[in-house]
Amino acid sequence: MPGPGSYWIGDEERREVMDVMESGYLSRYGDLNDPRFKHKVYTLEKEFAAYTGTGDALITSSGTSALMISLLAMGIEPGDEVIVPAYTFVATYTAAIFAGVTPVLAEIDESLNLDPADIEKRITPKTKAIVPVHMLGNPSDMDAIMDIAGRHGLMVLEDACQACGGSYKGRKLGSIGRMGAFSLNVYKTITAGDGGAVVTSDRDLYERAFAIHDQGHTPNRAGLEVGNRVILGLNFRVTELLGAVALAQLRKIDRITDTLREKKRKLKAAIEGIPGIKFRKLNDPEGECGTLCTVLFDSAEKASRVAAKLGTKTVDHSGWHVYVNMEHIDRYLAERGLPHGLGAYPRTDDILSRAINLSVGVVDAGLGSAFGIDIDATDERIAEIAATFKKACESS
Ligand SMILES: Cc1ncc(COP(=O)(O)O)c(C=O)c1O
Repeated sequence: MPGPGSYWIGDEERREVMDVMESGYLSRYGDLNDPRFKHKVYTLEKEFAAYTGTGDALITSSGTSALMISLLAMGIEPGDEVIVPAYTFVATYTAAIFAGVTPVLAEIDESLNLDPADIEKRITPKTKAIVPVHMLGNPSDMDAIMDIAGRHGLMVLEDACQACGGSYKGRKLGSIGRMGAFSLNVYKTITAGDGGAVVTSDRDLYERAFAIHDQGHTPNRAGLEVGNRVILGLNFRVTELLGAVALAQLRKIDRITDTLREKKRKLKAAIEGIPGIKFRKLNDPEGECGTLCTVLFDSAEKASRVAAKLGTKTVDHSGWHVYVNMEHIDRYLAERGLPHGLGAYPRTDDILSRAINLSVGVVDAGLGSAFGIDIDATDERIAEIAATFKKACESS
């Protein structure tokens, strides 16, 4: 199974789903005067906002739609540019592209997140926002990014799709920029199979986001609408069934991240000190989600040999997530005369060629984490995986 949330689907999710099935209300909209209507999506939105410490949350069909809705809500228009890291899932780019916005890629640093030192070099008069991605559950350097955004009058949209449950200096990821986007797909800390969330503390942005996700309607379709709808929207709504599963999962999020952090601590302790390796930089070691343990080798050659012995790949060869491995993005960039192809982001290429992702809670060959442990790993299993990793390093 891919992500920690899916390992822990149990009685709580079943009960919430049965509640919905017995109510007969499958849409998020129902008769509030009917006690059978359980308004799971509405409750989830309230609990998601409270959990992230934001004013409002909106549950959407996916992380991709959450990102696109956020960009549109922030008023970013065709021709504008947003700065995104060269290491992220394809959706960070496509959400911008389908909103008519040009994604401008920037280098990562050894945290595997946007390198603040590279962001300023990419700013042009067309830049409207920075989209830091908290890759593999590790918070981006938000102090530096918020500082750059403030000095250049840019908005910040946090792509927290891989980081639900994480925090940075005591604030939940997704709550630091103007808006934050989350994914609930099966690879994430909590899951409903699919789904996403937008959070913001700006009421106007929330109302715009709600309207974009539901045909221009006011939040919860409450109040006078006919004659008052000013924004065109689409349909990115979710059903009560998704709301039910996600609600049960959200109520487990702290237990999930606490468990992941504990397992990761043990795995790290068992492999620490191997010559020629170090761990990636964590911008908030307490707040990162603990879903993966990224190891950086001194050389790409050694990293490749170790990966082959473990039956996995270095991150640069892991497929998705690396700018150079996404042929459709490569073509998009090439057609517009934007930097593309191997060598376009040399620092990113170098770091990813020396990196191996060991799974802790997310087992995903597409992230290069085909080797490692999962959320239910015993101490014996952790010791066994650490020993295999050490042996591979020593013999490579
Ligand atoms: C960084 C990042 N952004 C966006 C997304 C898109 O989320 P979804 O698959 O829910 O559309 C993902 C999903 O893998 C992701 O990892």
